[in-house]
Amino acid sequence: MFDVIVIGSGPAGYVAAIRASQLGLKTACVEELTDTDGSANLGGTCLNVGCIPSKTLLDSSHRYYEAKNNLGSHGINLENLSLDIETMMNRKDKIVKKLTSGVKALFTANKVESIVGRGKVLSDVLVEVTKPDGSITQIEAKNIIIATGSIPIEIQSAKFSKNIVDSTGALSFSDVPKKLGIIGAGIIGLELGSVWSRLGAKVTVIEALDEFLPMTDHEIAKESFKEFKKQGLDFKLSSKLINAKDLKNSVKIKYHTNNKEHELEFDKLIVAVGRKPNLKDVINKDINLNLNNGFIEVDNFCQTKIPSIWAVGDVVRGPMLAHKGSEEGIMVAERIAKNHFAVNYSLVPSVIYTHPEIAWVGKNEKELREEGINFKVGKFPFSASGRALAVDQSSGFVKVISDSKTDTILGVHVIGPAAAELVQQALISMEFGASSEDIGLTMFSHPTVSEALHEAALSSNNQAIHMWNKVK
Ligand code: NAI
Repeated sequence: MFDVIVIGSGPAGYVAAIRASQLGLKTACVEELTDTDGSANLGGTCLNVGCIPSKTLLDSSHRYYEAKNNLGSHGINLENLSLDIETMMNRKDKIVKKLTSGVKALFTANKVESIVGRGKVLSDVLVEVTKPDGSITQIEAKNIIIATGSIPIEIQSAKFSKNIVDSTGALSFSDVPKKLGIIGAGIIGLELGSVWSRLGAKVTVIEALDEFLPMTDHEIAKESFKEFKKQGLDFKLSSKLINAKDLKNSVKIKYHTNNKEHELEFDKLIVAVGRKPNLKDVINKDINLNLNNGFIEVDNFCQTKIPSIWAVGDVVRGPMLAHKGSEEGIMVAERIAKNHFAVNYSLVPSVIYTHPEIAWVGKNEKELREEGINFKVGKFPFSASGRALAVDQSSGFVKVISDSKTDTILGVHVIGPAAAELVQQALISMEFGASSEDIGLTMFSHPTVSEALHEAALSSNNQAIHMWNKVK
């Protein structure tokens, strides 16, 4: 009998299992993916086919793009530049392997029992495990945590095939497609579009909405749209796919924009129209858990209506982000151990790892206006940052939004160098209830791109030093 069985070993599941074990709970983690040696392949989508491989390819492709296009002004001239996709992919696979093996070592060190097989919740205390050889066993626990993650959504009009692929397929093309189509200008579409565009593909993105990146701050959406277009990405907004046909050596698509039909042909098509909870055959149908639009209904503490069954990460409400899942995993382990713990859902950071990088936390102007909250805005452009100019990344800006009356920071939005890291600094201060004055009174190293956060905070109170203060 275990205290905790976690089903799924992605960033929500493996983190929950490690923390549960650290708290003295007898813990097992069930994972269906197998490694070459027959043990469980841990790490889930994030480590195997998501965050980590995409970031390695974003880095490799960025280096290639810089070497090809942007080193001349530094006085560095490269002749006979060539691209070896196989080596690039091998590097990515090695990094994935290092990290997934790392989770294995952490399980051993923390005494988490790793069980290979497909887990299914049979009752409030029972999990059925179907082993890779087809044999079935049952294991019992006082608590079950469902952390089975999400899968790409497949649409009827573009069924996955050899040349019509999801995000996983798009991480392992063996050649650079000459013409690449992408359905969906979401985070996956933009990140993978950036990778292949930098490596030489002519990328066209078909997006159903008329607005670009509607979840981001409106000025960031505008700035990023301009930057991506400059990089050669072609966007067809207000455009909905009618159908896509895999013709073996190419893909032909039909789409309509404002009722006008168009056709395009690509070498490959990536469908990135969102992800959905991975719950097929995970919960026995006799168990009466509530589902909402395919997501397991949970309370603020990720507990389902059956007290011994918990659910974390992409299978429950909220953004499908690794760090949100990990925090939920820790919260659930702590609460099973009867400790107090809550996730601060108002401060979940978001990052789009394009170039320039985009990141934000808290509220944007539109959301605050809708909520009737009076706010002030401080902004600082990277074009006025010495470090940003020195590292050749001077497009974009930092925007700090704070309450007009109390000066409390309500949101920070960044497009530009190290955006994710800058937002993380702001987030730490926001966790402590910082005002923009607090950041203004903090000393920042010079020269750093972080100084742009300092100046943006100062500018909210018309105190910026390195730019003209405009009274708002
Ligand atoms: P998404 O929901 O972010 O974007 C999908 C886009 O496709 C939307 O803009 C939608 O309007 C469009 N769309 C849907 N159907 C369409 C159609 N038939 N024709 C044209 N356009 C259509 O989904 P995405 O990019 O697949 O990402 C899935 C999840 O993974 C998201 O929750 C995302 O946050 C997460 N993710 C996060 C990353 C990060 O944190 N850096 C990286 C990758 C994924």
